[in-house]
Amino acid sequence: MVAIIDGRALARSLSDDTARAVAAFRDRHAVVPCLAVVLVGEDAASTVYVARKVAETARVGMISVEHRLDAGTSQPDLLALIAALNADPQVHGILVQLPLPPQIDPGRVLDAIDPAKDVDGFHPVNVGRLSTGTGGLVPCTPLGCLELLDTVIADYRGLDAVVIGKSNIVGKPVAMMLLERECTVTVTHIATRGLADIVRSADIVVAAAGSPRLVRGAWIKPGAVVIDVGITRVVDADGRARLVGDVAFDEIGHARAATPVPGGVGPMTIACLLANTVRAAHLSLAAPHG
Ligand code: GUN
Repeated sequence: MVAIIDGRALARSLSDDTARAVAAFRDRHAVVPCLAVVLVGEDAASTVYVARKVAETARVGMISVEHRLDAGTSQPDLLALIAALNADPQVHGILVQLPLPPQIDPGRVLDAIDPAKDVDGFHPVNVGRLSTGTGGLVPCTPLGCLELLDTVIADYRGLDAVVIGKSNIVGKPVAMMLLERECTVTVTHIATRGLADIVRSADIVVAAAGSPRLVRGAWIKPGAVVIDVGITRVVDADGRARLVGDVAFDEIGHARAATPVPGGVGPMTIACLLANTVRAAHLSLAAPHG
């Protein structure tokens, strides 16, 4: 029987740890960790995510400052806001919600964020630090995936890991983290041939393709650990909407452990964002800004 890895419970416990760390930081330094969240436009999913992030920062005792900008905001105006947030010593973390409207180049925006305040871990300096194993802030969803894996895997050395999806937000950083733990890592993508056979060899499967029920039960090696990052909203024949992962969860009873959708990776992302913001607050003491 597959053990279900409960992301909601783990996220709660991680957020409780963060709340304690926030209180300790406040008591010690008389400063409350602060996250600035920037949303450009009114993308429906982004609006929901940002509202959740802001609500959770408050729940752990942090300050959040929301900057909601018009969909027509110019790139220079957004870069000016980021420069101001970089220079503000009271702001410890900066998150610019993606996607951005077409007139704005996301690369230019991510490059402009101070790497020490980059709680998403998307700045090239942090990407480089992750790929060289030299610290830095690590992207939240990959961090959540590893926290979930850590609950069932004690020793990663030599395990075969397959990461499905090569995105900068999930696939590539997860692969780097598994490589750092000395897994043998294969990253697959849309052009990969023979995906089923590649997945069949894996002790660890991280599915982050955004393709509902792409990974079938017959692809999963008995005893494998499966992390499902996919979360797609589908509407059933009876008109009811539900969230579906990348893995056919009902077919993987022979796996050792797996995350459900919803209630797996999703809740961990925000919990890791909060943890990263406390880390950034500590970094601000090491290298003060302003
Ligand atoms: N859009 C989708 N996922 C993310 C994320 O992790 N961070 C940001 N900033 N935007 C996103």
